Amino acid sequence: MKSLVSITDFNKQEILAVLERAADFEKNIDQPLLRDKVVATLFFEPSTRTRLSFETAIGRLGGHVIGFSDTSNTSITKGETLKDTIMMVANYADLIVMRHPLEGAARYAAEISRVPIINAGDGANQHPTQTLLDLYSIQKTQGTLEGLNIAMVGDLKYGRTVHSLLQAMSLFRTRFTFIAPQELAMPQEYKNLLREKNIPFDEHTDLADNIANADIIYMTRVQRERFLDPMEYEKVKNVYVLHNKMLEKTKPNVKILHPLPRVNEIAPDVDSNPKAYYFTQAGNGVFARMAAICHLLEK
Ligand code: CP
Repeated sequence: MKSLVSITDFNKQEILAVLERAADFEKNIDQPLLRDKVVATLFFEPSTRTRLSFETAIGRLGGHVIGFSDTSNTSITKGETLKDTIMMVANYADLIVMRHPLEGAARYAAEISRVPIINAGDGANQHPTQTLLDLYSIQKTQGTLEGLNIAMVGDLKYGRTVHSLLQAMSLFRTRFTFIAPQELAMPQEYKNLLREKNIPFDEHTDLADNIANADIIYMTRVQRERFLDPMEYEKVKNVYVLHNKMLEKTKPNVKILHPLPRVNEIAPDVDSNPKAYYFTQAGNGVFARMAAICHLLEK
């Protein structure tokens, strides 16, 4: 039994196999491989894309969904623990998809569950299925995952999507540019990981001057919910706003990705620029999640 808690739970071959499977689902979505399966979606933290695309993926595969999008009408309000919730739900479902605000909650769930767990985001830690859809989007738009320049912009401290994506792209000879204010810089543990693997990266605080060589500009939202002090959030919340004008000198093949939701970090004038890819990227989540589920359930 295999869970997907961190993107490092899949090796390079598995990642590529999942991406190939996702492409197959995009070509032919009518593959009811989960007809006899129940999948639980347990969201202890808000979500739009992740939950809805998982539920769409399960529905497209002919499976059934149980779960909750809000703990307020569950027995968690009566004091039921995460352990007891997982032990119970594992009696009902063949797979559990879980989002939780605490880092490590998904790993803990995977250790006690008798069915596979998919981490749909645990605090500022990891969001591995977002990474699968990001990789799928990068491969689809660039024709390869190998040897690309990726600029990661915004909240690199608390943004779990950039942490997972960095780990995955480190398998593909990527050159990273980190663009963040000092307060939201990429954590040392991820920079150390790149140093150990001799993967080049540079760090900047200015956006406009550092995206000319990028194949992918990966924008992120400043994660208000992770700040202990609201004043600290106020200081950095609008630190970067990407406008159309800034894209004039970027590479013709560049695509702008964003895990979404966005707040102010991409101006609406960018939406109609052919370099904007974030809405299609979110749509790719259905194919990537169909493929991840089938991989874990060996379908
Ligand atoms: N990208 C992402 O995780 O979006 P949601 O928070 O809406 O699920």
